[in-house]
Amino acid sequence: MNIGIIGSGHIGGTLARLFSARGHAVLLANSRGPESLREMVAELGPGVRAVTPQEAAREAEVVVEAIPFGRLTELPREDLSGKILVTAANYYPERDGEIDLGGLSEAEYTARLLPGVRVVKAFNTIWFRHLAEQGDPGKPQSERRAIFVEADDPGAKAVVSHLIDELGFAPVDGGDLPGSTRFQPGSPLYNRDLTGREAREALATS
Ligand SMILES: NC(=O)c1ccc[n+]([C@@H]2O[C@H](COP(=O)([O-])OP(=O)(O)OC[C@H]3O[C@@H](n4cnc5c(N)ncnc54)[C@H](OP(=O)(O)O)[C@@H]3O)[C@@H](O)[C@H]2O)c1
Repeated sequence: MNIGIIGSGHIGGTLARLFSARGHAVLLANSRGPESLREMVAELGPGVRAVTPQEAAREAEVVVEAIPFGRLTELPREDLSGKILVTAANYYPERDGEIDLGGLSEAEYTARLLPGVRVVKAFNTIWFRHLAEQGDPGKPQSERRAIFVEADDPGAKAVVSHLIDELGFAPVDGGDLPGSTRFQPGSPLYNRDLTGREAREALATS
């Protein structure tokens, strides 16, 4: 699959490596342009290409955004139309500035910024080092590290859950975008190192 990744830092760079290792074609973008990614894509190997955010959005079937929440308005809205967009971003006011979410969850707010985009929230509650190291396709789902997935579009959620499974994690259905406040910074489930089984138990009682 062609997977676009907008944001080439801790999370975006880690996902580029993992998806490429699974045989996906990765289109990697940042804010400074493809030239600034030359060394990084050379190190990541032939499955990864440096592009602009617009190209990543246009050419990929699934796009991950891993950029600071305060910069989400810079995403290429028109090029993302109709695409599945995985949002890994978390809102930290001290980093991102004061943003009025209007009472919405962070993922709902993101979806409102991007009408016509199939927004899925995932990868936001796992530290990038754990993301790099903890995937293990050899383990049963119940024993793997959990990654929560929320979306309003069941088809998009299924596609992203399959990708998470391929990386050796347990995709755990966290419900819809309005309910995804349960997985935001400060919530009890945020950044918890849980297995698939533990995550489902925690969800049932949260
Ligand atoms: N670090 C973690 O373990 C972790 C875990 C889960 C979720 N998150 C969330 O994921 C997001 C990214 O975190 P990170 O730690 O990966 O950040 P990071 O290492 O600082 O990387 C941010 C990346 O976003 C790019 N970027 C910024 N604005 C952009 C724009 N308008 N268009 C394209 N690219 C843009 C930057 O490119 P330039 O360098 O060219 O500006 C950089 O490659 C944050 O919202 C964070 O809260 C982080």
